Amino acid sequence: MLTGQPPVDWMEAVSENYLAPGGRPVAVLEKVRREVPVALHGVSLAIGSTDPLDRPYLAALRALVDRIEPAIVSDHLCWGRHGGRYAHDLWPLPFTEEALSHVVERVERVQETLGRQVLLENVSSYVAFRESTMSEWEFIGAVARRADCGILLDVNNIYVSARNHGFAAADYIAGVPADRVAQFHLAGHSDKGAYLFDSHDAKVPEAVWDLYRMAVARFGQVPSLIEWDDKIPELEVLVGESRRAASIEAEVLGRRAVGS
Ligand SMILES: [Fe+2]
Repeated sequence: MLTGQPPVDWMEAVSENYLAPGGRPVAVLEKVRREVPVALHGVSLAIGSTDPLDRPYLAALRALVDRIEPAIVSDHLCWGRHGGRYAHDLWPLPFTEEALSHVVERVERVQETLGRQVLLENVSSYVAFRESTMSEWEFIGAVARRADCGILLDVNNIYVSARNHGFAAADYIAGVPADRVAQFHLAGHSDKGAYLFDSHDAKVPEAVWDLYRMAVARFGQVPSLIEWDDKIPELEVLVGESRRAASIEAEVLGRRAVGS
């Protein structure tokens, strides 16, 4: 990746890996940033937590944003922090009016602190709250509209959660406000029999590509990222997945794929 021109149009980095102000990680990220646009994707904002916002974390993230000037800054619509402890997991929220107001108010403060708009990503989930009074797509759409933030739509997460909770993935795609979706994630998952597990350790399954076609048809040309975090393949395999996303997008939108 670092020896020549990167084989992709842009890259995404997990923000938390670059929060220390010096050292090799930031030097590598700065090198990548000189070549292509970068998205900073956080995992510990805990936007739905009832803990106060983590101010030192936000200050470090702001410093990184100022340094890297990313095209996109994102995190997840979830909670994973309670009583000052991090669960290192992305737990789903109850989809209620109370949770909605709570999240909206916090997103507004985060955007103020970072001086820019953020995107929130739908997580994959394995349990749901009985208290929910709306669907996940209604909830994420309402957060985006009320807080004036964007949506990072993870197509694989929609597929995984749809199977785990028994809703129609197509309803999710149809229910999200089209003008708020500013990035897609694609990834592989594992079939555990009773449920699907969001493992990010394999190629994007055909069923997820089918859902991606539906998403491109509805949301248009949106930057798409392949997430692959475990059992990392040869670079060509990963780049091949990215090229497949580009050619599907071109096919659905009736254009020629960039670089082909
Ligand atoms: Fe994702």
